[in-house]
Amino acid sequence: MENRPIYLFANWKMYLDYTESIKLASAVAAQAEDIPDNIIMAIFPSALAAESTTDIFKKTRIATGAQNIHWVEKGGYTGESSAPMYRGIGCEYVLVGHSERRHLFHETNHEVRQKVEAALAAGLTPVICVGETDAERQANQTEEVIEAQIRSAFHNIVWPRDKKIIIAYEPVWAITKGDIQISCDPFEAERVHEIIKRQVIALTTFTPVILYGGSVQADNVTEYLKNPNIHGVLVGAASTNFENWLRIIRTVQ
Ligand code: PGA
Repeated sequence: MENRPIYLFANWKMYLDYTESIKLASAVAAQAEDIPDNIIMAIFPSALAAESTTDIFKKTRIATGAQNIHWVEKGGYTGESSAPMYRGIGCEYVLVGHSERRHLFHETNHEVRQKVEAALAAGLTPVICVGETDAERQANQTEEVIEAQIRSAFHNIVWPRDKKIIIAYEPVWAITKGDIQISCDPFEAERVHEIIKRQVIALTTFTPVILYGGSVQADNVTEYLKNPNIHGVLVGAASTNFENWLRIIRTVQ
């Protein structure tokens, strides 16, 4: 693959317990020297494993991120962790508005916006996740749903000049559910990425980095990455198995 920067982001979701996370992080860290410079890698472990995983990657170029944050810094919010807390242990990124948060935990566009602001204030780079459901796609609403998600995420946000805008396009229907993986056609993914690019530039004047997510594996990753507006991938299930993740890294090199 050509030498442009390629983002390989791994969302471990709630797939791995603490011991499994440490084992996988250590195995990935042991390969870090062999990862070419144009690959920008970040791992999003569970909150439980965030600190130890970050420590394991400390001497590598591999960054870590939170899977979610609360937008308040500190207070009586049982079960939550904030952006400064993750920044304090060395995380660099945070996923904001992942579809599982939006749909399973009823996170709203407004809450996503609050989290974007909190992430920036703490010095984390938010990875803003957007995507349509199957019903929305069937109803030809893909563009307007994503438009609303993006418009809201950037509402009254002053984006720091030195921070990249990273969007992850993850069609909800294409995200792995149990054993079911339905891939989005790479041409279709590219079409939506192009729309997202236009929307973000119109709102912010920044050209965003846009990652594709949803059932990405070693077998299909290059089909996505060969498109000009797909700058990387956000991988869930396939990133939680060392062999699969290594195959993805080797495939894109
Ligand atoms: P998947 O998940 O690769 O398991 O489909 C991607 C994501 O939800 O970030």
